[in-house]
Amino acid sequence: MSNAFYDIGDQRAAKVNDLFAAIARRYDLINDLQSFGLHRFWKRRVAVLAQVKPGDRALDLCCGTGDLALALAKRGAATTGLDFSQPMLEVAVRRQCQLMSQIAHLKFVQGDAQQVPFPDCSFDIVTVGYGLRNLKSWERGLDEMHRVAKPGARLIVLDFGKPANALWRALYFTHLRCSVPLIGLLFCGNASAYAYILESLKHYPAQLAVAEKMRSLKLANVRVVNLLGGAMAINYGEKPN
Ligand SMILES: C[S@@+](CC[C@H](N)C(=O)[O-])C[C@H]1O[C@@H](n2cnc3c(N)ncnc32)[C@H](O)[C@@H]1O
Repeated sequence: MSNAFYDIGDQRAAKVNDLFAAIARRYDLINDLQSFGLHRFWKRRVAVLAQVKPGDRALDLCCGTGDLALALAKRGAATTGLDFSQPMLEVAVRRQCQLMSQIAHLKFVQGDAQQVPFPDCSFDIVTVGYGLRNLKSWERGLDEMHRVAKPGARLIVLDFGKPANALWRALYFTHLRCSVPLIGLLFCGNASAYAYILESLKHYPAQLAVAEKMRSLKLANVRVVNLLGGAMAINYGEKPN
């Protein structure tokens, strides 16, 4: 079944932008509801894997309302969060202002994750949370992550995954097909925006292909951390020195 916010062609980015403009105000609340709060643990795991060291510069692509960027900045990285959605960035900046006294060296910029506005080899850490799946070309997004990463940098991708176990996959897809749009309807007045998750996941090859692409970019220590039996996944790799 097609989805109002999913387009396979030239309208992809425009529709994704419309989607996040529509849900920005309720995005954080619904994240908590649909994941039973677990996304907070998964994002913490990403921040731990990033192994922030003094003086590190971090870039969080598709930063949305800023969860990962805030986590990296709290650990001491000079962090940039990048997103193309103005309404999502406005929420991120509001959250940053509330925490101002605790966080230094964090900025949010508007930009396209497929054409990252930074020079080659700029960052020690490059992350993306629930972002690659939304790009017209997730491979292009990963190429950009690789391009702006310094030698030795950690590249980390968090996203919905595809469980290997068929029964678990069917149950989990049923959750995405039924409960998640219902939560979207009840708390945001928009079922379609949340039905988009399953639609986009069906077209996204998920953790195994991301690991394969990381290997083809010659990243070192490539690994997949499956969470909840592969329903969520973290892909990790290091740009060789
Ligand atoms: C599901 S949200 C994830 C937000 C945040 N990273 C998190 O984990 O909660 C996806 C974000 O990707 C952004 N996005 C999608 N396509 C993008 C692109 N081409 N360039 C920059 N941001 C993009 C959207 O605006 C949205 O804020």
